[in-house]
This record gives sequence, structure tokens and C-alpha cells, in this order.
Amino acid sequence: MKKIILTGDRPTGKLHVGHYAGSLKRRVELQNSGEYDEIYIMIADAQALTDNADNPEKVRQNIIEVALDYMSCGLDPEKSVLFIQSQIPELCELSFYYMNLVTVSRLQRNPTVKTEIKMRNFETSIPVGFFTYPISQAADITAFKATTVPVGEDQMPMVEQTREIVRKFNSVYGETLTDPDILLPSNKACLRLPGIDGKAKMSKSLGNCIYLSDSKDEIKKKIMSMYTDPDHVQVSDPGKIEGNTVFTYLDAFSNEEHFGRYLPDYANLDELKAHYQRGGLGDVKVKKFLLNVLLEELEPIQNKRKELEKDIPYIYEVLRNGSICARNKASETLDDVKKAMKINYFDDEELIKAQSEKYGSDK
Ligand code: TRP
Repeated sequence: MKKIILTGDRPTGKLHVGHYAGSLKRRVELQNSGEYDEIYIMIADAQALTDNADNPEKVRQNIIEVALDYMSCGLDPEKSVLFIQSQIPELCELSFYYMNLVTVSRLQRNPTVKTEIKMRNFETSIPVGFFTYPISQAADITAFKATTVPVGEDQMPMVEQTREIVRKFNSVYGETLTDPDILLPSNKACLRLPGIDGKAKMSKSLGNCIYLSDSKDEIKKKIMSMYTDPDHVQVSDPGKIEGNTVFTYLDAFSNEEHFGRYLPDYANLDELKAHYQRGGLGDVKVKKFLLNVLLEELEPIQNKRKELEKDIPYIYEVLRNGSICARNKASETLDDVKKAMKINYFDDEELIKAQSEKYGSDK
């Protein structure tokens, strides 16, 4: 069986280091591993519109931002198909048929949808399109016969729901769809990188993100203002590591070589943590180290972005070509689905023959 990746992001803002640690970095590694036969990376504009119906301009503006972020991180149109969801109408058709296989109460139980409904104050008036987006996400995944879906932890319920739809479809209509596996970050700190304020999730609406395209000064300002241990007042005080955002980021991004380059008094993160816990190590020193680590990681990405920004029409061309390629693939799957559901009337010679016999047509 072919190994196929499908994943994507909603274009509602620039991508931040949470996206990078949680999924983007891994995608690039998977792409370059050469282990996958096909890789599809989708800008999920149609999904973004499910809760931004009154703000299409925001979605439109952010398509190029996400595409630039993707390519500056190393997603390569020679190796991965980069495309825009709304350009693949087959996805809507698939969703429409999958809707028959999912109950309202099952959708209501989806934990990610539940949280999002609360966050958006949708409780009393949930747009139907938003409510059903897990079904459309199942269409995204199955249309490409994805075997692997590399995403952050918050997408787990979506992949679960997709698997249920796949099983239901296959049991009702016969083996047709591919059952996908989720691929979560292996580093625990990357699973859900907190915002700079220490809140559980980095999110644009909370204003606690470090964006991949932030300037050096912005990154410095954000790191210096980062939430640490509020009881660590004096340098000599013992400090806490748990829930200390600076250390969570170091867990996510630092390695021993960084210590050699920027903080040679310590061999590794364990030593630094031990000193912090003992007392005698100030936040500023740790923050400066994190700044160096993060700037080293982001600098090549930012340089690549500046290059890419010089030829925006090329980026749209990449997305156009990717969308054509993605559409071909999705349309093959839609054919399989229609055949399995026996709604492929005009290709079905058996059907036409049987109906002719029934009526004694002599043509
Ligand atoms: N829900 C994802 C997000 O919020 C975007 C997305 C849409 C997606 N379709 C997908 C992710 C299919 C993985 C697979 O960013």
C-alpha cells in the first residue's frame, strides 16, 4: 500500500512557533525522509470560512501568509503538493455523502468542536457548516487516501471521527476508503506549546503567540516578557520547572549543541533545570539562552521567507498547480465512492442492461 500524507491548516493568521513545533517541523522531516509516496498539504480555507463566514477577506489575505510560512519552513512543491481546499469541489461532494453516516449527537460529543463552540460563544447559534466541519475534515483526509495525518494533539478527535466514518462507509458500501493513522509529535513539549503568557494554547485571539515571521526585536520582547515561575522573585530563590513556559520552550527547541554554543557552563538542559530548582539562576539568563536557541532555529526560515516574498506570483502558481494535482486525486476517490454507493448510473452497464430486460427494450 502507498504511504500518503494529508494535513493542513486554516488560513486565519500567520503561523506561529506552536504550529512549527507541533506539526510543521515534522512535516518537513517526513517530506525529506523520502518514505512517503505522496504528500498533500492543504490550506483549509473552506474550513476557515465555517467560523469566519462574515470575514472572507481575512481568509483570503492569510492564504499567502500560510503558503509563505509553509515554503519558508522547507515544504517543497517538488516533493509535496501544496493546495487550497476550496479549489477541490469533490471534497464537498464527499462530505455530503458522509453526512448520512454521522449522527448529530456524535458531532456534539467531539471535544475539539465543543471547546471551539465555547470559545466562539456559538452555544445558542451554531452555524451548521461549523458544526459539521469534522465531516468535511474526514472528506479531506479520505479524498487523498491518506495513511498518515501528522497534526497537533487538538486534531486527535477529528482523526478519530474520520476513522469512524471510514469504517462505517466500508461496512455499508464495501471496502473503499483508507483508514488513516494520526501522527503526533514525539516530543511532549511540542504536543501543545503554551503561549508566552503560560496559557495552555498559543492562539491569535489570546495575543500570546510568537510568529515565525516576527522580527528579532519582537521575538526578544516576547521572550523577555514570558511567563515563568511567579514565586521565583530573587535570583537566589529556588524556581519551579513545571508550568514554567521558558523551560517548556527549551524542552521543545534546545539540544546539547545549543549549550556548547550559547551556555557552555551547562552540559545540557537537565543541568540548567537542576540549577534553577536549587536557586541561584535568574530568569533573564535562561530567557537569553532561549532567545539564542529560537533565533538560530528561525533565522534560516526568515531568510527563506524574504527570498520567497520577492516573487509572490510564483507562490500563487505553486498553489494553482498543486490544486490541479490534488483535484485529480480527489476525483479518483469520488469515482470509487460513487461506484461503491452505486450512484454511478451512466458507467454501470449492468444496471442499464437489467433495466432494459425488465422492460423488454429491444435496443
Ligand atoms: N482542522 C485543521 C486546523 O484547524 C485544518 C484541517 C482541515 C486539517 N482539514 C484537515 C488538518 C485535514 C489535517 C487533516 O488547523
